Amino acid sequence: MSSSLSVVILAAGFGTRMKSHTTKVLHRAGGFPLVEHVVRTALTIAPADRVVTVVGHQADRVAAAVTPYGVKTALQDVPRGTGHALRCAREAAPADGHLVVLYGDVPLLSEATLARLIMQHTANNAAATVLTAVLDDPAAYGRIIRGADGGVEAIVEFKAASEAQRAVKEINSGIYCFNAPLLWQHIDSITTNNPAGEFYLTDMVEILRAHGHRVDGQIMADSSELLGINTKVELAEVDRLFRLRKATQLMLDGVTIERPETVSIDLDVTIAADTIIEPNTRILGNTTIGANARIGTGSVVTNSTIADGVQIEPYCVIADTEIGEAAHVGPFARLRMNNRVGANVHIGNFVELKKTTMGDGAKANHLAYLGDSTIGAKTNIGAGTITCNYDGKLKHPTTIGAGVFVGSNSTLVAPVTLEEGSYIAAGSVITDQVPSGALAIARGRQSNKDGWVAKKKS
Ligand code: UD1
Ligand code: CA
Repeated sequence: MSSSLSVVILAAGFGTRMKSHTTKVLHRAGGFPLVEHVVRTALTIAPADRVVTVVGHQADRVAAAVTPYGVKTALQDVPRGTGHALRCAREAAPADGHLVVLYGDVPLLSEATLARLIMQHTANNAAATVLTAVLDDPAAYGRIIRGADGGVEAIVEFKAASEAQRAVKEINSGIYCFNAPLLWQHIDSITTNNPAGEFYLTDMVEILRAHGHRVDGQIMADSSELLGINTKVELAEVDRLFRLRKATQLMLDGVTIERPETVSIDLDVTIAADTIIEPNTRILGNTTIGANARIGTGSVVTNSTIADGVQIEPYCVIADTEIGEAAHVGPFARLRMNNRVGANVHIGNFVELKKTTMGDGAKANHLAYLGDSTIGAKTNIGAGTITCNYDGKLKHPTTIGAGVFVGSNSTLVAPVTLEEGSYIAAGSVITDQVPSGALAIARGRQSNKDGWVAKKKS
């Protein structure tokens, strides 16, 4: 990161072809809104107070997405072209050093590509360096016209290009590094004298050259980083590429991913070596997973911390939960909202936890709802146990000590406490505190009517 670099991110455009009520740069790929990817990339080369995002369409929402990163915003109230968009950032952007222009809808651009662009730009002391790509199908991109000296003479927009110019396969990525003082000195020379009647930022090339300055081009190594997003089809493709990039990195770091093309792992997730990620899993947000763990097929894990050796069986939905070493969860378990599950805990099928702490070695192996509860170490929760934590108005806590045995199909009416080492008989409805070491039975007594069946039949 250099203190003389700054970045302007152009993100004011509409994105009509997304056919959405949400502006283009707020659509998500790889777990983040597109513009956030670009901000995060910008922050690898410039400090936050030297990064400006130009917002326009749904300006408030885009600003809300980027300002938590500490970057500035500038408003382009009417989209009048890329040159105009950059001009709108003049007040907010630093006047010194070098200025990189990025697009809010080109999120795959890598840190390495940007670093190479800046390196060449500063080494050659160019007025501007354009990031370019050579494409088999240059489509409607602006074409790069090179001069005899190898520099860039002009960028010709597709609409304005001649047949010969359209045959050029080197295209303008739209990403540039400018000498900032020269850029700001000359930016007002851009006119709307073109078929679209827009202020074309690409005109800066000819303007700078007319003043005797050099403009360079750098061909990028991997043009897939340029993939911009115009439709939901392209959004899905970019998401796929982000997921693949992340999975590839994790695999190179020693994580086993059984069918990498089927998993969605957000960029900030960390997973330690020798953990196994089964097919069709989603691991999202700020999730951290230790070593030698396993995330079973179909599971969705969000903002959770999972320790070494934890086994998550298939089809679990886990959010905002901490799970201790070697715990066993699922299949078909749901853990939501601030749970703390201790080491070696067993949580089985159709068990739901909400705001619940389970001590080390505790078990709830089948069919239970445990909400707002604290459960001691080695306690066993029988099948069908329900904490009645809600009285229709308020939520109440259930406190269960260590080494408690809760019989099957017990109903624990909160607030209630089962002290350490107590026993609850199956089928009980518990409304009062159970003292340590006591057995609580709270159910109708059984009575047998001898010979009743024969009598009824006759
Ligand atoms: C631009 C380049 C073209 C290049 C292409 C690469 C110009 C004139 N042309 O064309 O040479 O090959 O990018 O993708 O620059 N934006 C604003 N405000 C505006 C206009 C655009 O913020 O008034 C933003 C958009 O949100 C987008 C970016 O600038 O993020 C590029 O705009 P777009 O209209 O897509 O440029 P192109 O016509 O594709
Ligand atoms: Ca029950």
